[in-house]
Amino acid sequence: MVEYQGTTGFGESWEETYRQTPAGELPWNAGMADGDLRDLLEAMGPQAGRAYDLGCGPGNDAAFLADRGFHVTAVDISPTALHLARQTAAKAGVEEKIEFLAADVLSLPAQGDAVLVNDRGCFHTLPSQNWGDYARVAAGLLRKNGLLALKVFSFKEPKMADGAGPYRFTGEELGGIFEGAFEMVTLKEGVFHGPRKPHSYFTVFRKR
Ligand SMILES: C[S@@+](CC[C@H](N)C(=O)[O-])C[C@H]1O[C@@H](n2cnc3c(N)ncnc32)[C@H](O)[C@@H]1O
Repeated sequence: MVEYQGTTGFGESWEETYRQTPAGELPWNAGMADGDLRDLLEAMGPQAGRAYDLGCGPGNDAAFLADRGFHVTAVDISPTALHLARQTAAKAGVEEKIEFLAADVLSLPAQGDAVLVNDRGCFHTLPSQNWGDYARVAAGLLRKNGLLALKVFSFKEPKMADGAGPYRFTGEELGGIFEGAFEMVTLKEGVFHGPRKPHSYFTVFRKR
């Protein structure tokens, strides 16, 4: 059984991390939407419907999703991150199309109406004891056949000596965590774009 304590970035909380780090120095802030998410949307074609960006951080993906026609709920536990996300959306001219929600993703109620839940780099920071809860929450947000797009560090990314940082997943672990409510439709190796380019998995799960 995996035991991972989770991470809160460089601070004692995510809020502290965002307060003490300029937006341009956040290593996950690529300043643009994730390439794998772009490819997925390209394949999906024109969209309308509700989408969530869980752990939206500076909001690059949320703004992109709104620009592509989704009604977006951008969720983050850090109010300062949401402030950045609002600025990103305003620059892209899509602020009115996004609801910004300061909340723990694990506490989101099951609305069952979303066509897409996107998570770039939030899930892999959660403690292992919460992985099953997260899968239940994501399934609760989606309608039948809705998609969960999840980008995480992969096992190919070397671990840090002190064990800090996000969890490094195998494809088997991801499949096992989400298999109850979802079927895996994509498991793609790649990188998180940005200065360091850590190894990633981009997975797409369809809600059963
Ligand atoms: C590595 S950052 C990724 C941010 C953003 N998705 C991106 O790619 O730029 C992880 C984000 O998840 C948020 N987060 C972590 N745990 C959370 C939780 N339980 N509920 C909501 N947000 C959370 C953090 O505040 C942070 O913004």
